Amino acid sequence: MHYVDGAKRAQGSKLEVVGTCDCVEREASLGPTLPRRLLLRNLWTAPEHRRRGVGSGLVQDACRLARSRGHTFVSLEVEAKNEGAAALYERLGFRDVDTSPKWVRAGLDLLGAGQPAALAGMKKALSVMRVMVKEV
Ligand SMILES: CC(C)(COP(=O)(O)OP(=O)(O)OC[C@H]1O[C@@H](n2cnc3c(N)ncnc32)[C@H](O)[C@@H]1OP(=O)(O)O)[C@@H](O)C(=O)NCCC(=O)NCCS
Repeated sequence: MHYVDGAKRAQGSKLEVVGTCDCVEREASLGPTLPRRLLLRNLWTAPEHRRRGVGSGLVQDACRLARSRGHTFVSLEVEAKNEGAAALYERLGFRDVDTSPKWVRAGLDLLGAGQPAALAGMKKALSVMRVMVKEV
């Protein structure tokens, strides 16, 4: 899926790709954690076109594509330190899925009992990649 520069198209000049993302159909995985879904990968906006809605547009198109192909979920992975991309996904309704093993979850819950902020901080520090999902 690509977005091209509309102004260039109107002028009839060579088209420039301003954003792109891949969409891959996936069966359910990680037990019941991740349902059958459309997996969004490699979202990218050309640096000079950022913060103009290109990335959001691509994600919204991916959600429409998912629905048209009979999916009810879209998922993605984002590096925990990539706060800009995560903000985009959160704004569009994506929520974290905890894919850490049960024993890690149990230990964290025990450590963070009664301290939700500390628990959230520990989970973030532990997860290099965040897995996010949205019902579409
Ligand atoms: C992440 C990326 C795709 C965003 O593309 P974009 O076209 O700039 O995104 P949008 O214009 O749709 O941004 C929508 C909202 O997301 C959030 N956002 C996007 N980039 C942000 C940043 N660098 N810092 C903080 N918030 C950001 C903002 O809330 C933004 O709304 P605003 O501009 O009104 O504040 C782009 O920065 C990029 O290609 N980065 C490098 C590749 C990458 O990290 N891809 C994600 C892989 S998971």
